[in-house]
Amino acid sequence: MRFLVTAGPTREPIDPVRYLSNRSSGKMGYAIAEAAIEAGHEVVLISGPVDIDRPRAAAVIPISTSDEMFVAVHEHVPNCDVLVMCAAVADYKPVAVFTKKIKKREAKLLLELIPTRDVLASLPKARKYLVVGFAAETDNIQTNAQKKLLKKNCDIVVANDVSRADSGIESNENEVTILFRDSQKKKISRAPKKIIARELIKIFENVCEKRLTKKIA
Ligand code: CTP
Repeated sequence: MRFLVTAGPTREPIDPVRYLSNRSSGKMGYAIAEAAIEAGHEVVLISGPVDIDRPRAAAVIPISTSDEMFVAVHEHVPNCDVLVMCAAVADYKPVAVFTKKIKKREAKLLLELIPTRDVLASLPKARKYLVVGFAAETDNIQTNAQKKLLKKNCDIVVANDVSRADSGIESNENEVTILFRDSQKKKISRAPKKIIARELIKIFENVCEKRLTKKIA
């Protein structure tokens, strides 16, 4: 199958030397890309700025801003079977980018932000590929993740708790709950992201297989 995986943070420029971003390390997305390659799939990886070696067998598309992520996903998604939106796309960006470096002053500095475009929510409802979203939550994890599944019209949402220091964001480990459209849930207990990624790939393969069998029957 052809996987399109997004990973890492986006950077939203403020001026020529500053940007808004988040703590995403890209480790989970890169682990998913590696696990998909290991399982014999083709992988296109759209990556925000991260400090990880690129998976050699993947076609890597480097992006920086949420707008670049939006364009890259829309360009490549028609050619994939599974989209895994693991990237931590910024929700807001500055209304305008200063062309010159903002100079330090005594007065308060107010930065006006506007929402970025939501990549997942922008995808067509009628599509052939499987759409997997991620939900980074600090509280009411399953309820919030369930809301994202419906609001963003995902087939699957992988929810993780980003409030813990020992798993989730920046960590080498994770613990996730996978939510499906038919309200089923599956938990993968705390494990290295590489192990979690292998389990996730198996789950995505199973869902794709079931959909195919349903279509043929
Ligand atoms: N996402 C996206 N486009 C955005 C923001 C997020 O496609 N502009 C995707 C992420 O890649 C992820 C999912 O939406 O797969 C959920 O992202 P998350 O940060 O957990 O939630 P938000 O939608 O940003 O909502 P909130 O910050 O309120 O939790």
